[in-house]
Amino acid sequence: MTQSDALVFFGATGDLAHKKIFPSLQAMIKRGTLKAPVIGVAKAGWALDDLKVRARESLENHGGLDPKAFETLCGLLRYVDGDYNDPKTFQALRKELGDVKHPTHYLAIPPVLFGLVIEQLSKSGCADGARVIVEKPFGTDLASAKNLNRILHDVFDERDIFRIDHYLGKSPVNNMLFFRFANSLLEPIWNRNYVESIQITMAEAFGVQGRGVFYDRTGALRDVVENHLLQVLTNLVMEPPARTDAESIRDEKIQVLRSMPSLEAADYVRGQFKGYLNEPGVAPNSHTETFAAVRLELDSWRWKGVPVYIRAGKCLPVTCTEIIVRLKEPPTMFRHFTLAPNYCRLRISPDVTIAIGANSMVIGSETECETVEMVAARQPRAHEMDAYERLLGDAMKGDQTLFAREDYVEEAWRIVDDVLKLDIPVYPYEQGSWGPKEAGKLAPPDGWSDPVVSKSAKVA
Ligand code: BG6
Repeated sequence: MTQSDALVFFGATGDLAHKKIFPSLQAMIKRGTLKAPVIGVAKAGWALDDLKVRARESLENHGGLDPKAFETLCGLLRYVDGDYNDPKTFQALRKELGDVKHPTHYLAIPPVLFGLVIEQLSKSGCADGARVIVEKPFGTDLASAKNLNRILHDVFDERDIFRIDHYLGKSPVNNMLFFRFANSLLEPIWNRNYVESIQITMAEAFGVQGRGVFYDRTGALRDVVENHLLQVLTNLVMEPPARTDAESIRDEKIQVLRSMPSLEAADYVRGQFKGYLNEPGVAPNSHTETFAAVRLELDSWRWKGVPVYIRAGKCLPVTCTEIIVRLKEPPTMFRHFTLAPNYCRLRISPDVTIAIGANSMVIGSETECETVEMVAARQPRAHEMDAYERLLGDAMKGDQTLFAREDYVEEAWRIVDDVLKLDIPVYPYEQGSWGPKEAGKLAPPDGWSDPVVSKSAKVA
């Protein structure tokens, strides 16, 4: 794998750069992993000094400015201002690249611009020897995802394409795979013989946060279920890969998606929080869902018959992403106790937890039992790498393990594509509730397990 010798990011004056990219670049500098020039590109009528001011603001607002690292970042920063339609913008970029042989082009821009920018990169020679990183959303349905793949493949080889799903850059998501396969604890029970159901909840206690225009075109299913939560699920249920290289891992992940029948209307509940229609950028009669609950199946040897429930929503009671794997009832003689199902709880955020829930007799009582948890918890530590830092560094190294492959993104869209075309009712729900009551009809056998978040839990 060749290390990239420059990072070019399109959309340098945009929101993503402000919230995620500058903080990641500073973190990479502090860790000593970024020494190459960083060239921002945008159409804002700006000069390099304006970009530096923007970078400073970004760091002050997101994670804090480190004066030494910021100085180094300013030394690496370059800026090209211009219209993406204008070949001169790309000639200027080519000039700025100078002797650079393997730039990584990061398209932190709306997907409608991908085709144009990629064509211009190619014509100007900027794509020679280069890699490309594309941001989510990767299309809006199966057809548009295929089209985007075609556009990318016109110029880049699959081995040079890095499709970001920032959930893959999160350590607890990676740790799910490690915890499963680095221990002998779970694997014997991790199948249809022992597991009764799987549920994944991604709850957010906030609304659309000024992203009304984007969100209203997108909705919860496209925004987080089809990508982030299917990625979480694949790490949870995939077979052990033969090796740890990118293709061995991604070969197993695609098998999971292939084993999933397409989602049907009866297995999908949509909700919209009350007040959503007043959000700026939202259509007055919008039917976009801010809550989605789905039931999926896996037609595989390991998982056949184990239902998978996924729900995600805005304006729910807490911000937390958590997985509960419930086990089947034991053939017990303790019938006079009210036993709860055993479970494995894996929390991704705000704190990181792996816990096993089991029944235990209440000490001092011969008739009562309680659920106790054996907890292996690890709070995020200050030096833990942010998802974007990890992913940008990996892309510059050429490591594709944590990026979605062409076949994966198309298969993920295939699973939801049918229901996206249907007019499925959207039920209103109160802000701060667990979504519309209709989601209760699509619940695991012992009901949804609502995450409880303690006030001291730190955000990952
Ligand atoms: C983004 C979605 O991809 O992920 C947002 O567009 C969502 O709507 C966000 O809030 C959640 O990411 P995280 O890392 O905060 O859980």
